[in-house]
Order: sequence, then C-alpha cells, then structure tokens
Amino acid sequence: MRHWASFDREVVAGAHEAHLQLQLTDATYSVDGVEAHCPPGVYHATSASSSTFLLRHLNGVNFGDHPSILEVGVGSGAVLLSLAKRLGDGVFVGVDISDLAVKTARSNAVRNGLNVDIRKSDLFDAVAGERFDAIFFNAPLYDREPRSAVEEHMLCDPGGRILERFVREAPRHLKPGGAAFVTASNIGLVAPLDDPTVSIALKGAELFDTGVIRALVRITPARTRKDTPP
Ligand SMILES: C[S@@+](CC[C@H](N)C(=O)[O-])C[C@H]1O[C@@H](n2cnc3c(N)ncnc32)[C@H](O)[C@@H]1O
Repeated sequence: MRHWASFDREVVAGAHEAHLQLQLTDATYSVDGVEAHCPPGVYHATSASSSTFLLRHLNGVNFGDHPSILEVGVGSGAVLLSLAKRLGDGVFVGVDISDLAVKTARSNAVRNGLNVDIRKSDLFDAVAGERFDAIFFNAPLYDREPRSAVEEHMLCDPGGRILERFVREAPRHLKPGGAAFVTASNIGLVAPLDDPTVSIALKGAELFDTGVIRALVRITPARTRKDTPP
C-alpha cells in the first residue's frame, strides 16, 4: 500500500505553503506547561501542529516507572520536554540532524529547568548500542522533493526514505517489551510500514478539513515463530 486515502493536491499544496512560512517566523509556545522557543528554521509547536498531535496521543501511553525514552527529530524539544516534565522520573534523550534544532532544544531544556540529553544525530547514529523503553518520531510527512533546507529536514520525506530507515532501525534500539511510535499521513508514503520484520498498530488518528489524515503508528518487533506459543 502506498497512500491510503486520497486528498485534494491543490488544497494540500496551499496549506503546506502556509505551514512552511510559519516555520520561518520566531515564536514561543506553551505546550503542556512547557515553554518552547521556536526560532526560524525549527519546527513550530503550535496548538494545530503535529507536535501537539503526537503529545495528545502519547499522553495515553503507559511508560512505566523510570522509563528510558528517545525522541528522534527532537526539534524545539516541545514534546520531549513536556513528557519529561509530566513523568518526572526517567531518562530522556533527544536527537536531531539539525544543528539549530539541537541548540534550540538544549536552550529550551535550560529555560524550563529540565534535565534531558540532546545530541546531534542522523536518526540513530548517536545512540549506537543504546536501547530504550520507548522511541518516538514526529517525522517529516510530505511525499514531495524539498525545495529548501527547511522543507528537507522538517516537512518532506520523498519516497518515504526517512520512514523506511526509521522502521528498519528502531527495533534494534528497543528494550524487550518496548515500542516505537511514528507519525504517518496520507500525504506521505506509508509503504515502509509494510516491513515484515515489524508489527504495526494504529495508536491514534485525526482528520483535518484539508483532507489530510495524521496518524500515530505503534511499531514493535514482529513475533518470530520461536516466540509464538505452540
Ligand atoms: C516535524 S519536525 C518535529 C520536531 C519536534 N519533534 C516536534 O514535534 O515539535 C521533524 C524533525 O525531525 C528532524 N529530522 C529530520 N530528519 C532527521 C534525521 N534523519 N535524523 C534526525 N532528525 C531528523 C528535523 O530536523 C525536525 O526537527
């Protein structure tokens, strides 16, 4: 399966343009009691953004006691910092490919007095050999060739290449019983979720009046025959 629901390409292209312009502004948002400063070029955690969509659906997840949590593509830190504030006890690591996002997430952690570990990384490169109870990624969603650096890292995933790498690599960084969560959309390719090495489940979804569907997908390693009771 490539896309799972059709949408009006012109309406979505217009909404994307407005969304892109927003990313070039300087603003500070209050996200679940955390202040997130988002300079131009760092993903803006507005109340209508995929950041708050992700947080709404992660809030229903039981992370257990003292969980170790990794956010891939931490951006401003809005989501990771909100979780760290709510859960209090735990290990919180955030990675991002963008130098500006890394600097911003670190300064937002200081601004909110929260202790998180932020590293520069292309997906899992900076956490080689490390495992977590939960991993999440508010991924770039739009299946379209980027025309700028902002689009490339924050908004576009042509051919689903980033999603494909995340689905393949995330299980290697999960502790037994752990789960990864990734955003997906009908404006992006969902074929990488068909990977036979993982099991997927829908954790939450929302439909917007542009016809765009945002979904949060839960990923766990596929059960092997050895794991299946006779
Ligand atoms: C849609 S933004 C989400 C930002 C933040 N998590 C939030 O929800 O507000 C996607 C983020 O993923 C980062 N990103 C994109 N590709 C990446 C990669 N290969 N490795 C690490 N981070 C990546 C971008 O720089 C951007 O900060």
